[in-house]
Amino acid sequence: MEIVVLIVGDRIERDKRVTTHLGLVGRALGAIGMLLTSENKSVERSIREVTKRWGGNFFVKTGVRWREEIERWKEEGGRVCHLTMYGENILDVIAEIRERAGAKEEKARIMVVVGAEKVPYELFETADWNIAVSNQPHSEIAALALFLDYLQDGRELKAQFEHAEIEIVPKRRGKEVRKSKSESKSI
Ligand SMILES: C[S@@+](CC[C@H](N)C(=O)[O-])C[C@H]1O[C@@H](n2cnc3c(N)ncnc32)[C@H](O)[C@@H]1O
Repeated sequence: MEIVVLIVGDRIERDKRVTTHLGLVGRALGAIGMLLTSENKSVERSIREVTKRWGGNFFVKTGVRWREEIERWKEEGGRVCHLTMYGENILDVIAEIRERAGAKEEKARIMVVVGAEKVPYELFETADWNIAVSNQPHSEIAALALFLDYLQDGRELKAQFEHAEIEIVPKRRGKEVRKSKSESKSI
């Protein structure tokens, strides 16, 4: 499956940490890259440094136009999931999304859209699904993490990252990090 995260809004200058965390969550939980409508080179740099050290091929592209990105994505057969508390509850639509988007097939392409601020109403009409991760207001970071997890049924939690310089040896207690010996398969 190919998952891309699109962040719509310009509050990013004020919210650099939130935007960086959206990128970290996207990367760690199975997305292949992040598109930002805002220009923010420092976020791009931080995520690139993490990817260099911890592996994978996660990309960050800034200054995109959200309409064009969504149009192109749909023309190429991708589906668009907009996360909003006003949408249909994730538990009521996740099975349909997995099935209709062919989420079990590798060729499935999902764009996950989150707002960095109030999003234009047009987005609600353009999206294939408007999805609420609970119908209560909370955080775009939490909404993204939960959605990615439901979409992939938790499989992303065991993903291996290729080209990593270092990797963690999971332990019940203590911390162990080793230099990666081999290139492992990514999801
Ligand atoms: C912190 S909210 C700000 C929303 C803004 N105040 C508004 O009125 O639209 C930023 C983003 O978090 C996401 N979000 C917040 N709560 C959500 C929920 N319950 N379900 C899905 N996404 C949510 C949405 O993508 C939203 O655009």
